[in-house]
Amino acid sequence: MTKDYTWWKDATVYQIYPSTFIKGKKGKFEGPKDVFDGETGDLKGIISKLDYLADITDVIWLSPHYLSPNNDMGYDIESYEKILPRYGSVEDMQTLIDECHKRGMKIICDLVINHTSDLHDWFKESRSSLDNPKRDWYIWKKPKYDDKGNRKPPNNWGSYFSGSAWEYDSKTDEYYLRLFDKSQPDLNWENEETRKAIYDSAMKFWLDRGVDGFRIDTAGLYSKVQDFPDAPVLFPEDDYQPSGNLTLNGPRIHFFHKEMYDQVTSNYDAMTVGEVGHCSREEALKYVSASRGEMNMIFLFDTVDVGSDKNDRFRYNGFDLKDLKEAIKTQCEFTEGTDAWSTVFIENHDQPRCITRFGDKKYQTKSGKLLAMFQTTLTGTLFIYQGQEIGMTNVPRDWPIEEYQDVNTINYYNQFKDKYGKDADFAEKEQKLMDIINLLARDNARTPMQWDDSENAGFSDHRPWSKVNPNYKEINVAKQLNDPNSLLNFYKKSLKLRKKYKDLSIYGSFEILDFDNKQTFTYVKSLKDAKSPKAYVVLNFSKDNAKFERLIDGQYELISTNVDKDEFDEEKLSPFEGRIYIVN
Ligand code: NOJ
Repeated sequence: MTKDYTWWKDATVYQIYPSTFIKGKKGKFEGPKDVFDGETGDLKGIISKLDYLADITDVIWLSPHYLSPNNDMGYDIESYEKILPRYGSVEDMQTLIDECHKRGMKIICDLVINHTSDLHDWFKESRSSLDNPKRDWYIWKKPKYDDKGNRKPPNNWGSYFSGSAWEYDSKTDEYYLRLFDKSQPDLNWENEETRKAIYDSAMKFWLDRGVDGFRIDTAGLYSKVQDFPDAPVLFPEDDYQPSGNLTLNGPRIHFFHKEMYDQVTSNYDAMTVGEVGHCSREEALKYVSASRGEMNMIFLFDTVDVGSDKNDRFRYNGFDLKDLKEAIKTQCEFTEGTDAWSTVFIENHDQPRCITRFGDKKYQTKSGKLLAMFQTTLTGTLFIYQGQEIGMTNVPRDWPIEEYQDVNTINYYNQFKDKYGKDADFAEKEQKLMDIINLLARDNARTPMQWDDSENAGFSDHRPWSKVNPNYKEINVAKQLNDPNSLLNFYKKSLKLRKKYKDLSIYGSFEILDFDNKQTFTYVKSLKDAKSPKAYVVLNFSKDNAKFERLIDGQYELISTNVDKDEFDEEKLSPFEGRIYIVN
């Protein structure tokens, strides 16, 4: 971890999910019919909230705003150079970019280039015939046949969204690879012409319009092992298996990233953050070592996957604080002593809400503040997700499966029902699965942003496509803006402190002091030399009181707490109490 200050290292990044942020245009959307039953947000809405955002963040990460059938909420792109009509136009996007820059903010876009939508012109050509010039832009394989002559996919790889990762196309009697939904064919990165087209259409098109970089979707998946062998069997009860390292961190992945850097991103002052998920420290460093020139930083999933099987989040067994500490340690320490850089995040559009996951409903604001202290004192570039700053929560447990709209959740539920639907104890099994879905499903982060207590939470003047969380009357921006004790104002204060003490918070070394304690999480952030002040962070992650101890010597100066003076007790921490000291 080097301390060469750079805007993208110091930055707080705020992620906007355009479909649920805010609708600026009044009235019902009257454009082309699409999958949304109800209103989405739009670019005009985002522009109207830039002053609100400028008070919180330096960089906006805009989740996909492109033309898309939205089978996977814009991560299935029909054209990289067009905007979803509901969101606005290329001109609106230009206004958004310019208005961000006027306020001293940067804006990065989502770069989804492992796959396109099956409606993309490239795929339409590719599937049209075996000898189409773009046939090889995607990954096509011949079927296999079993002893009885039944047609089978080319190998046993499973999709991240359940079932086989291969889709049969009768027109040419071949299968195409699609690691996600059947409408998301994987691009063939082995083809140089394809890579060039991606660089021009998906990247340079937007960089030349002023976009400041990219969050790179599924950045570890482009290089597939080229003889496409079967994957090892991890889940014997399933027909298809996680493809693991046959698709993730594959043999040519660093060649591809290096080329992308050399040919595109190094020519701009661009920030790049790649979604990689899981990999060894050695592998992670290859992606983000400054001297190698690939990406600036990556998202690893150790923290957000805590308690889950890393190949299947719904196989969830719970976790204790030690597991969380272990995950944070990996995240904060992997760049230690190197020229690499990393990220801090606990929420995004693929994760549940952090208060529900790591905090407590009874201590809604207090545990939200604890999580704010936690996130703003960790090493790396900080990412927060829309609504995190006001403590939005998961959807109510009593919402039935019909309220969930994410393809990942729906496919998983349907596969489960196909498998166990006839079992005598299905109702019981289903309730257990619904508990996990309610805790971990991506839908939890995809309800409309709660702006005020008016109808639809101030998100739109007509019914939104995704139901509003019924707690919007208590949890909303308007209520928190002028309340000095609100979570929103605590976030703003904590983000300022993060900047003020950035050598410790953003760039400092991280050391856990109470690894075996299952109630409290105590760590110091420090510079390498022993004489400099340290940040001492102690967080009670439990519903019980905990003993407070000064585990290092020195003069303690309290700089942040989430309790009032009259609740403060030098000897003990109340439930979800957190403190940050500077120790001299
Ligand atoms: C990761 C994205 O964050 C997720 O939302 C999407 O479903 C997959 N990549 C596929 O693009």
